[in-house]
Amino acid sequence: MKRVITSKDSRADLLAQEYVDPGFSADVIGWQKQHGRHALPWQKTTDAYQVWLSEIMLQQTQVSAVIPYYQRFLTSFPTVFALAAAPSEQVMGHWSGLGYYTRARNLHSCAKRIVEQYEGRFPADPALLEQLPGIGRSTAAAISAFSYGTIAAILDGTVKRVFARVFGIHGYPGAKPVEDAMWQRARALLPENEIESYTQGLMDLGATLCTRSRPSCQRCPLQTRCVALAQNLTAELPTKKPKKKAKEKHATMLVLLHEDQVLLEQRPDSGIWGGLLSLPEVDGMREWTGTSVLADSDAEIIQLVQRFGQLEKLDPLPEFTHVFTHFKLHITPMLVRLSQRTNMIAESRYVWFELSKLTLAPLPAPVKSLLLSLVV
Ligand code: ADE
Ligand code: SF4
Repeated sequence: MKRVITSKDSRADLLAQEYVDPGFSADVIGWQKQHGRHALPWQKTTDAYQVWLSEIMLQQTQVSAVIPYYQRFLTSFPTVFALAAAPSEQVMGHWSGLGYYTRARNLHSCAKRIVEQYEGRFPADPALLEQLPGIGRSTAAAISAFSYGTIAAILDGTVKRVFARVFGIHGYPGAKPVEDAMWQRARALLPENEIESYTQGLMDLGATLCTRSRPSCQRCPLQTRCVALAQNLTAELPTKKPKKKAKEKHATMLVLLHEDQVLLEQRPDSGIWGGLLSLPEVDGMREWTGTSVLADSDAEIIQLVQRFGQLEKLDPLPEFTHVFTHFKLHITPMLVRLSQRTNMIAESRYVWFELSKLTLAPLPAPVKSLLLSLVV
């Protein structure tokens, strides 16, 4: 077995020494040999072409779905030369149904690169593999470990789950600092031998015991060293992706009254309440900053009102909140009475609407209830 440390890794490898723990890899390897998976089709070979094909297919697809595709692919394209020479429609046809089709396009161009640049032989160095289309850092390490026995660290979603739990690593593993810390551990934990069993063991642990929900900790070889088990945190780790918090917006709406009519405005066809009539807004809907003060100055309001007539009286009404699926809209209505009204041009998107006919108007529900509450 040879240990490959690429120049890019060497400094971080020194930093990672504090995490070195030979017991960890020994436990994983021992467990894999006894209880891991041994009959997966791609485990029958160390041929880099076949290993590469399986790893690409397994990137975003479950083992059970991959198996028939993997076998059909190898029947039709038994070598990297056959795959590189195939028409792209034939390659895409064989991928059809597996999803994430960028993988198929990358697969085909990678095969061509292996033929043109490497005479049909996949390189053993993960740093070189990583430069090929569709091969990321973890996939490069897996291919190199399974094909050539290279001591290189994997870190896919499954391994991140195991690491987060065993070492009690909090924070979303997709976040750069958390991911960096996990890569550092992944390298420090590498065994000096038996990289195939170790790499497969990490994958098998995450797939069969350390599952997303209700992991089987009682059968786990890492139970004595697992922080999540000791602290009852298996449901909390790994930390979920932070949810973008629901947007909140604010609008100041004018209830412009003149005699027995209210001024309504046609909303743009796209966006919320597209095409409906609504109340004119001072400066549209804006990000809500959380403070319940009037968002718009009287000056702004007066300026807008003057387009429609002579201001007689201006009264703020109580703010209320309308809840949509994806955001909340805080509405501050301003009751404005006009003593005189300006004539509007015919094609204007504004209309003066009879208060007595409001029930029939195509208005958003919260606007309609507001107006009806003012009429009675
Ligand atoms: N997922 C990614 N690579 C895998 C492999 N070699 N075996 C099982 N599942 C995997
Ligand atoms: Fe996962 Fe449980 Fe094993 Fe910890 S003890 S690594 S949570 S299966």
